[in-house]
Amino acid sequence: MLDLATPKDMRAWSRAERARGQRLGFVPTMGALHEGHLRLVDRAKERTDRVVLSVFVNPLQFGPKEDFTKYPRDLARDRTLAAERGVDCLFVPALEAVYPQEPLVRIAPGPMADTLEGAARPGHFAGVLTVVSKLFHMVEPDVALFGRKDFQQVMLVRRMVTDLDFGLEIDIAPTVRELDGLALSSRNGYLDADQRRAALALSRALRAVEQAWRSGEADPKALQRRGMEVLNAPGVRPGYLELVDEQLRPVARADARTVVVIAAHVGATRLIDNVVLGEGVAGDIAVRT
Ligand code: PAF
Repeated sequence: MLDLATPKDMRAWSRAERARGQRLGFVPTMGALHEGHLRLVDRAKERTDRVVLSVFVNPLQFGPKEDFTKYPRDLARDRTLAAERGVDCLFVPALEAVYPQEPLVRIAPGPMADTLEGAARPGHFAGVLTVVSKLFHMVEPDVALFGRKDFQQVMLVRRMVTDLDFGLEIDIAPTVRELDGLALSSRNGYLDADQRRAALALSRALRAVEQAWRSGEADPKALQRRGMEVLNAPGVRPGYLELVDEQLRPVARADARTVVVIAAHVGATRLIDNVVLGEGVAGDIAVRT
């Protein structure tokens, strides 16, 4: 596995590979790799010839009171996991390489970023889209792969790529879950054993909404109430549970394409999850970690 650290080297390698006719797959991450990231690598390997995985903890997407400094970092472990999984190029740019000066020009994500996570985390998606667009310019991939667990993020990235003509494909992979339903996230590492048990309320609430919908309930308010009954569990501080379309707009009636998005705090840890009603939680990938 090749290790690269500068945007210049990254771009040179990517251009040389593409000049040889190789298609490039790109998995952007903030490190603390888990099976969810590694499944994206598998998928990239199936779809492209060369796979780049980046590790960069992006300060621009963290609020002043959020966990930027304590975000889990273990580059040695990430490097081993990436190499074992067949990543061709690990790109780990330093903070100064990505932001040699304060970026005055940033991506404005528009109204799709004002709801849900964006309402709770002002400026978060401007930070995400700014770094993702910079990484796209450094890596110049043919396909970039994201997990559907961060539903709002991936819808915004897809919209940015379309609206700003990036000329690459966004591939969205199913959420990867533990066998008991917990969606994999680097932030799960913050949870102690009791909190981890409490965190199962998120996927249980999604399943409860899905079951109610499959039994014939299509009123979003009724479905929301059903989900909230389950989410309101001991140790869980619910954030939101909404039924939305791909533009993140509330739906008037739930159908197979409706996405149930959910957020809650367990202790100090903010967790998010979602399900597409027609696919169901069982349509996601379950793994033993
Ligand atoms: O999903 C993430 O890990 C981050 O938001 C991303 C896309 C790597 C941008 O920093």
